[in-house]
Amino acid sequence: MKLLVYVVVLLTCTGTCFSANDRLLVNMTIVRSAADIGAYCLDGSLPAYHIHRGFGAGARNWLLQFEGGGWCNDIESCAARAQTRRGSTRFMNKLETFSGILSNNASRNPDFYNWNRVKIRYCDGGSFAGDATHDDGKLVLYFRGQRIWQAIIEDLLPKGLSHANKALLSGCSAGGLASYLHCNNFTNYLPNTTAVKCLGDAGFFLDSPDITKNHTQRTFFQQLVTLQGIEKNLDESCTSSISDPKQCIFPQYLLKYITSPFFILNSAYDVYQFHHILVPPSADLRGHWNRCKLDPKACLPAQLHILQGFRVEMLTALRSFLFNSTRGGVFINSCFSHCQSESQDTWFAPDSPQIHNETIAESVGDWYFGRNVSKKIDCPYPCDTTCHNLIGTGSTNDLSQINS
Ligand SMILES: *[C@@H]1O[C@H](CO)[C@@H](O)[C@H](O)[C@H]1NC(C)=O
Ligand SMILES: *[C@@H]1O[C@H](CO)[C@@H](O)[C@H](O)[C@H]1NC(C)=O
Ligand SMILES: *[C@@H]1O[C@H](CO)[C@@H](O)[C@H](O)[C@H]1NC(C)=O
Ligand SMILES: *[C@@H]1O[C@H](CO)[C@@H](O)[C@H](O)[C@H]1NC(C)=O
Ligand SMILES: *[C@@H]1O[C@H](CO)[C@@H](O)[C@H](O)[C@H]1NC(C)=O
Ligand SMILES: *[C@@H]1O[C@H](CO)[C@@H](O)[C@H](O)[C@H]1NC(C)=O
Ligand SMILES: *[C@@H]1O[C@H](CO)[C@@H](O)[C@H](O)[C@H]1NC(C)=O
Ligand SMILES: *[C@@H]1O[C@H](CO)[C@@H](O)[C@H](O)[C@H]1NC(C)=O
Repeated sequence: MKLLVYVVVLLTCTGTCFSANDRLLVNMTIVRSAADIGAYCLDGSLPAYHIHRGFGAGARNWLLQFEGGGWCNDIESCAARAQTRRGSTRFMNKLETFSGILSNNASRNPDFYNWNRVKIRYCDGGSFAGDATHDDGKLVLYFRGQRIWQAIIEDLLPKGLSHANKALLSGCSAGGLASYLHCNNFTNYLPNTTAVKCLGDAGFFLDSPDITKNHTQRTFFQQLVTLQGIEKNLDESCTSSISDPKQCIFPQYLLKYITSPFFILNSAYDVYQFHHILVPPSADLRGHWNRCKLDPKACLPAQLHILQGFRVEMLTALRSFLFNSTRGGVFINSCFSHCQSESQDTWFAPDSPQIHNETIAESVGDWYFGRNVSKKIDCPYPCDTTCHNLIGTGSTNDLSQINS
């Protein structure tokens, strides 16, 4: 089994990947103590993380990265997920590749390579925020994301996290959302002498209607929050000052209550949001958008106009953060991508995406270490020639990354 996993990892490394022998593969740590507080994956298996120790000047710094992978918002989809690597550590690869922000190579990850780096595996389907159980006599499903988060933090604290000099909570997609949701809680676990900051990559999911004016994403999140018992774990300052507390799962409403410095990394044409929020299948039954979804160059002028409108909505939702947050960072590029911090080619490589001549790794580093103000907004599509678009590359294979 272990050998099989290893072979699969090596085989998937083709094209732009680095050669197999200089990839960093990190072993899984199962959190046994999680059982004590009922912190289970959807199927009842124990949660896990992967840790690679820091060294040298980074030995007392900690980066925690939430894995992403969508959500499940009803019993059917959660039951299906419980049988996959998204809902059970039993089905996960035990060796995880650490690249991009998780790389240990200074040439590929100049600011965080020597930190303690932890990848937190995602198996609850609720951005690490649920707390409920489904038991209908035939099927048991555990919605215990909040407890998983707590169990993992409490496991890491005695391993050195409690004495961190610097800390960064990060994550991508559903894990990016988790980073918004848990930033304050993370800060509270650490001494006030630790410099704590948070980064949300591709997690700025907009509360925006689809092209038929249906609030598809709002409905989806409301079902998710209800099913998984998330509402009680949302930020109290937010839930007590909004008419529908469930809305506090949206970063745009939660943002002003996050007290630690936050970096928002997102594409203005985030492919997940394009395909699931702006033009979900239910809003395009006749498939008018199919070609445009596969290749932005095939979009009709009217479709591009709608995409530009989505970008403006995102910038509008960010306005107050952009102008008023003195300690925040922003990198909103105009690429058809989703998750740019964990893959080496988008994080830091000779041809990585840039805004004003700066890569994502440089911007995040400038912000974290206070070297420079990092608030970068790209010009609208198609001006940016540095993009690594997930779509329009002729490889539909890349689309499988959209959900991760
Ligand atoms: C570190 O990354 C550089 C640039 O990609 C590469 O040339 C070098 O071989 C890597 N070093 C190790 C030890 O993997
Ligand atoms: C991975 O961890 C398991 C369990 O802790 C251990 O038995 C195994 O030897 C480790 N494998 C590697 C390659 O480090
Ligand atoms: C983090 O959040 C959990 C759940 O709301 C809570 O029980 C815990 O006390 C919080 N931890 C800290 C240090 O605030
Ligand atoms: C930090 O915490 C210590 C002990 O908990 C407390 O004495 C001190 O006043 C705190 N400092 C600040 C700046 O909050
Ligand atoms: C509106 O969105 C909901 C949730 O995705 C979906 O179930 C419903 O079919 C949509 N209605 C229309 C008219 O598209
Ligand atoms: C910045 O904050 C001030 C005071 O809260 C507010 O009046 C102003 O509208 C904010 N600016 C933006 C662009 O949101
Ligand atoms: C962009 O950055 C590179 C390397 O940091 C530098 O050599 C080059 O002069 C910069 N170009 C511009 C237009 O600023
Ligand atoms: C800081 O950022 C500005 C604007 O992006 C840039 O012109 C300047 O060169 C940067 N300074 C340093 C020291 O990197």
